[in-house]
Amino acid sequence: MSSPAPQPAPASPGGLWITFEGGDGSGKTTQATRLEEWLSGEGRTVVRTREPGGTAVGNLVRDIVLHHRGDIAPRAEALLYAADRAHHVATLVQPALARGEVVIQDRYLDSSVAYQGAGRVLDPGQIRDLSLWATGGALPDLTVLLDLDPAAARHRLDADDKPFDRLEAEQADFHTRVREAYLELAHAEPDRFLVLDATRPVEELADSVRTRVAALLS
Ligand code: TYD
Repeated sequence: MSSPAPQPAPASPGGLWITFEGGDGSGKTTQATRLEEWLSGEGRTVVRTREPGGTAVGNLVRDIVLHHRGDIAPRAEALLYAADRAHHVATLVQPALARGEVVIQDRYLDSSVAYQGAGRVLDPGQIRDLSLWATGGALPDLTVLLDLDPAAARHRLDADDKPFDRLEAEQADFHTRVREAYLELAHAEPDRFLVLDATRPVEELADSVRTRVAALLS
């Protein structure tokens, strides 16, 4: 890209945008569900969504990136995730935030930086800029990173007995690089990230997330 990427936009006007990040098997979905239940109980309107996916177009992209048999060129893969993201933010996330709702989302651009960057073929900074361009610089108010050793994560995934998707099937060193990339991202943006040790009990983790979200809402 020749022109500079847009500066990240300030967080959501009116609403609250929370993303969950972490390696496969780190418990994002469980924690997102706990948070959704709590916020709904508090009377907030919650939109629960995910990337890739979250929209009809996004689900088509999800099918390609997760289930296509055979290779996808790394730049094509990065563009597919960014295309999904552009459509998702424009048609689902931003309208919900503009209505003053809370958006709880499994994965966002940090996933692209960690996963596509971890292949070491693509530059993480360029991947981030690509997503920021795609979304007009939109960044969440809070990103919860569930940090987990990849060996422990693999153990959890094996116990699930579900078929692996393309990314889950990558080798252990790939997942170690993903974890390191996530921790670097969190280190670079300490205000946006809440990093939690994903081996802690589910209820304790849910409590930590609630505490942070409650502070943001007040
Ligand atoms: P996820 O929906 O968490 O998988 P599951 O439903 O099986 O828990 O994520 C799907 C995969 O997509 C995951 O392995 C990470 C990968 N991914 C990327 O590589 N880049 C991205 O930008 C995103 C959003 C996901």
